[in-house]
Amino acid sequence: MKKKFYVTTPIYYVNDKPHIGHAYTTILADVLVRFHRVAGQEVFFLTGLDEHGQKVQQAAEARGLSPVDHCNDLAPRFLQLWDKLEIQYDDFIRTTQERHVKVVQAVLQKVYDAGDIYADEYEGWYSVSEERFITETEKESGEFRDVSKLKEKNWFFRMGKYQQQLLDYIKDHPDFIQPEHRKNEVLGFLRQPLGDLCISRPKSRMRWGIELPFDKDYVTYVWFDALLNYVTGVGYEQDAQRFGEWWPASVQLIGKDILTTHCVYWTTMLFSLGLPLPKTIFAHGWWLTGDTKMSKSLGNIVNPLDLIDQYGVDSVRYYLMREMVLGQDANFTMDSFIKRFNSDLANDFGNLLNRVSGLIGKYFDGCIPETEETEAEKEIREVAESLDDKVNALIDSLRVHEAIEEILVLVRMVNKYMEVQAPWKVAKEDLKRAGTILYTATEALRVSAVHLSPVMPEKTKAVLEVLGAVDSSSQWGGLTPGTKMQAHEALFPRLEVKD
Ligand code: MSP
Repeated sequence: MKKKFYVTTPIYYVNDKPHIGHAYTTILADVLVRFHRVAGQEVFFLTGLDEHGQKVQQAAEARGLSPVDHCNDLAPRFLQLWDKLEIQYDDFIRTTQERHVKVVQAVLQKVYDAGDIYADEYEGWYSVSEERFITETEKESGEFRDVSKLKEKNWFFRMGKYQQQLLDYIKDHPDFIQPEHRKNEVLGFLRQPLGDLCISRPKSRMRWGIELPFDKDYVTYVWFDALLNYVTGVGYEQDAQRFGEWWPASVQLIGKDILTTHCVYWTTMLFSLGLPLPKTIFAHGWWLTGDTKMSKSLGNIVNPLDLIDQYGVDSVRYYLMREMVLGQDANFTMDSFIKRFNSDLANDFGNLLNRVSGLIGKYFDGCIPETEETEAEKEIREVAESLDDKVNALIDSLRVHEAIEEILVLVRMVNKYMEVQAPWKVAKEDLKRAGTILYTATEALRVSAVHLSPVMPEKTKAVLEVLGAVDSSSQWGGLTPGTKMQAHEALFPRLEVKD
């Protein structure tokens, strides 16, 4: 049976158009899925929208729309962006869909019947921006906006009872929370006694949610609804066989700001349901401008659509994947975008195609030449052949930027080889030898394109078409001598640096 890989992104709030933060995680998930697919695995990729809650209700009110109309208006914008970004998701879940509402209500009933949900009067600090009650310490940190004191009857999930189980689990499963510093953050959070979780809102205050099956005056509060999308999407309470095939998820990608909700709320919910925990929850950092997070409320966001229109989808995907060290914050600047574009894409990758196709056109009538390997070629072939294992290992440990760098090492090595071997000189005396050099460089380019295809699906496809490469395997020797190459334009024309 094929190995399975199930990846999820957070489901995004529909309070505004999608921005670079949303685009980043979704591209990351897409890139991982494509790498796993190339490696022969069966994949499932779930993304979607978080449509309930106060934030969405407020955003709808501000536009003079009902929450449903507001969501229906914004949802297509996410889908359009995913299309433009070449995102191959398998399912796009919206929490207002009936399939999800049913799952949430079934879960609420189950957890209630098991005695893990109770009613209580609660007074505490409530953060509208986070849509949850926060602790005294969290309030003092000053990191939460729109905080006010609130007192009301609500329904609570007995989260506290799972504290020790969670601590033991984290210690026994070193790969569960990644990267390491985020795991330590969660362990730090769990050093204080873990309280219970408020999971409801009275309808009198907030109607835009899923009604509790055991109390018609209340709706469930955002996290208890939203987190369950990850199991709804693979058939929980709908199709036991399908669910058994896909759950637990291989990787759940999140941003660092939703670490506690995923590593503590979500996992204790799964404990209560008796379901296995995801194999890995990975929290990435933020895209910053200067020292500040790019965010809608700060108005300092880059619109991903503008970037795609101007520079092409592949270079945007490449930049986001290559520039961010997964797990750390990264700075988004046009300067670094242009530098990365010109060095890796125009000079290294794009230029290699230009060189080989130009020379093959000139000396071999545009047909892939025959090859006879010597020591110099062997070296290139061996590096190319080692890429499969290297790239797979790096992708498995979620070091995407390093995987890309490994592939670029080969590309640069081949450019160097071309300079040293100078096939344009050799061709004048020994055409056969020049053919070997050009075959080797072109084949290495083909192998690099195959490896880069999860990151840059469009341009790598174009390269393979130019090379007449019917074989999309990463094994050495895929090019057939005699194949006529296609005419092409520059892959990534250099960008001029403007002030
Ligand atoms: N709806 C919740 C998630 C529920 S998951 C069951 C939510 N939505 S969100 O739209 O506000 O944010 C979604 C994700 O976008 C978060 O993981 C967040 O970290 C990420 N990003 C938002 N701005 C970002 C950057 N500037 N940089 C990188 N990612 C950031 O939270």
